[in-house]
Amino acid sequence: MKIISAPDYESMSRKAANLISAQVILYPRSVLGLATGSTPLGIYKQLADWYRKGDLDFSKVHTVNLDEYCGLPAGSEQSYRYYMESNFFHHINIPAENYNLPNGNAEDIEAECIRYDKLISSLGGIDLQLLGIGHTGHIGFNEPDQSFDKTTHRIRLSRRTIEANARFFETPEKVPEYAVTMGIKAIMQAKKLLLAASGAEKAEILYRALFGPVTPELPASILQFHPNVTVVATEDALSVIRRQEPKLL
Ligand code: GLP
Repeated sequence: MKIISAPDYESMSRKAANLISAQVILYPRSVLGLATGSTPLGIYKQLADWYRKGDLDFSKVHTVNLDEYCGLPAGSEQSYRYYMESNFFHHINIPAENYNLPNGNAEDIEAECIRYDKLISSLGGIDLQLLGIGHTGHIGFNEPDQSFDKTTHRIRLSRRTIEANARFFETPEKVPEYAVTMGIKAIMQAKKLLLAASGAEKAEILYRALFGPVTPELPASILQFHPNVTVVATEDALSVIRRQEPKLL
């Protein structure tokens, strides 16, 4: 595992965007796994900026997003589809048929989960998966659980996650209770993982995920078993790691 430290959010975003950009330049037909939340916003902004300057071409890239809420009205500004289109896809030259998110409103959610896993396989798997980390240690919406071997599935969001994501909604009551998320299996099968983290409130969970026991109770801890993980994080997000593992950083 490589840990790259950045002095602040902008620098963290640029470093992570640089790694994604290298992937796209070297392999223009890459399959990128993408994430939502506040953390990747700066990364998407930077990538779109480099696209505008002519440095990046997304015309052959395919993307699969980690997750989507269930039960939001079509076109809802809180949906992850809206987030991805307004923050990234509509600012680059990726063809609309090349980007994919699970459909949280599918009538048959089980069939939708199977479709999503098949889609990921049909694309040849994920070359580079971008991840954030939730306060419960979730990746995508894989909340603390009893096992690691889930494929795409519907999940009931934890209280802590609903509270954390309430900032994007008018009231906490409006945060959907359920979401569809790519499973830990597909995430772990990605060839490369890029975990971005920012802010002091992620310092403890980041330390536990990367250096604590590997347990489904802390889903991100499974990343310790992946052969190609890069963590790009701000100094404050790395503060507990720096204290506990001073030789590493
Ligand atoms: C959300 C997303 C995750 C994301 C996490 C952290 O719940 N489903 O993919 O990593 O929250 O979000 P933030 O970056 O806003 O802290």
